[in-house]
Amino acid sequence: MTKQEKSWEKRLSGTADELAVEFVESLSYDRRLYKYDIAGSIAHAEMLAERKIITRAEAADIKKGLLEIGEQIAAGKFTFHKTQEDIHMAIESALVAKVGDAGKKLHTGRSRNDQVATDIRLWMRDEIEILLTRMTQLQIALVRQAEKYIDDVMPAYTHLQRAQPATIASYLLSFVEMLARDWSRLKDCRDRLNVCPLGSGAVAGSTLPLDREMTAKNLGFADITYNSIDAVSDRDFCAEFIFCCSLISAHLSRLAEDWILYTSAEFSFIRTDDAYCTSSSMMPQKRNPDMLELIRGKTGAVYGALVAMLTILKAQPSTYNRDLQEDKIHVFAAADTTDACLQMAAAIVSHTAFNTKRIADGLDEGFLDATALAEYLVRKGIPFRQAHGIVGGLVALCEKEDKKKLGDLSIEQFKAACDKIEADVFETLNPKGVCQSYKTAGSAGPDSAKAQIVYWKGKLKEQ
Ligand code: ARG
Repeated sequence: MTKQEKSWEKRLSGTADELAVEFVESLSYDRRLYKYDIAGSIAHAEMLAERKIITRAEAADIKKGLLEIGEQIAAGKFTFHKTQEDIHMAIESALVAKVGDAGKKLHTGRSRNDQVATDIRLWMRDEIEILLTRMTQLQIALVRQAEKYIDDVMPAYTHLQRAQPATIASYLLSFVEMLARDWSRLKDCRDRLNVCPLGSGAVAGSTLPLDREMTAKNLGFADITYNSIDAVSDRDFCAEFIFCCSLISAHLSRLAEDWILYTSAEFSFIRTDDAYCTSSSMMPQKRNPDMLELIRGKTGAVYGALVAMLTILKAQPSTYNRDLQEDKIHVFAAADTTDACLQMAAAIVSHTAFNTKRIADGLDEGFLDATALAEYLVRKGIPFRQAHGIVGGLVALCEKEDKKKLGDLSIEQFKAACDKIEADVFETLNPKGVCQSYKTAGSAGPDSAKAQIVYWKGKLKEQ
């Protein structure tokens, strides 16, 4: 292992234990922060020059050196040494090797504590933009599919039992609405994290006249943080970010679970293109929804990251502690998994068709129009609780007489149950008709679906 010069060599004696070097390093995963580390360092150097703490020429050398290092890393031509611990030290020592004494002045008034806190915020800002776009793409895919199924009815389930009829469009749009909450939650997270800790130093700030507003502004932050002790160890935004990813994952896992069921022979509601299915190594007939199962399964890793992050934060003494280095492992894992799942979900949604005929053929199953019949009785002046009982009795009668649907009962049987029932009752008794007569805003009928589609098309264009 190449021996690297470290700034604390004068303080600590001897070379670090091999095991300790491996154990303490974060370079293997935090190198993905390199662009942000360089941007933060350039802003810091320019501010130091503005405040005459270093000269303009020194700042220019630093900038030039850092940009070259950035290009080298991007091109895969930079040699990382684990002994440098992290991306901050790796870049700084390469800078010193490149530009000499000017490079040694870069860390003036700065600590890796405020540096890393700045880097993660910068990285996360970009990452959130990517995730927001991915979510919008998934929403667009869902709306496009919804447009195809405005008049097609499917059973809506509660407790996984057939409940009421709903248009397929409304079902698809339910996920668009879920994702809209995820979208704005992540946007809020971005707005809250967009404050700059740079200049907080190790913990208490600096005796040098640093211009914190200047670096914050140059890095595109909306404000600076106002307490250096908090700023160096605040990772609330990391927990919040992973929580946002967790809810996205929860929602994707619900879609995945539905669709895994829907692809089964028992449901046969949907068919996804072969490109998104796998087969079995043994059973030649199999067509498995592995992508959906993986979306569902990967939720575990994202939740795991959230629990890990929250646990890292628990009872940590003020202020920066090395425990915090672990934040990146979980933040990156949550981001990467969520990103991959959002992309796969959008692809699957775009390449899936609903078996509308098969779904329609099965609509007589499960008394989907029972609630609408109870509401028919309400319109005839019967109190709802009583209407509920009457219809419950009629469903039991159907089951007893082996009648598949309420519409198979005779008008005499209806009248025997309640004399307010007229021949017009049969108009109420079919799932498609029920769907069309939903009156409430946001209901699962075609009119509401159409209105939602118009709304989302406008909204998603702005996003
Ligand atoms: N690699 C460290 C991290 O990610 C950087 C900060 C280390 N600071 C220190 N004083 N040891 O948290």
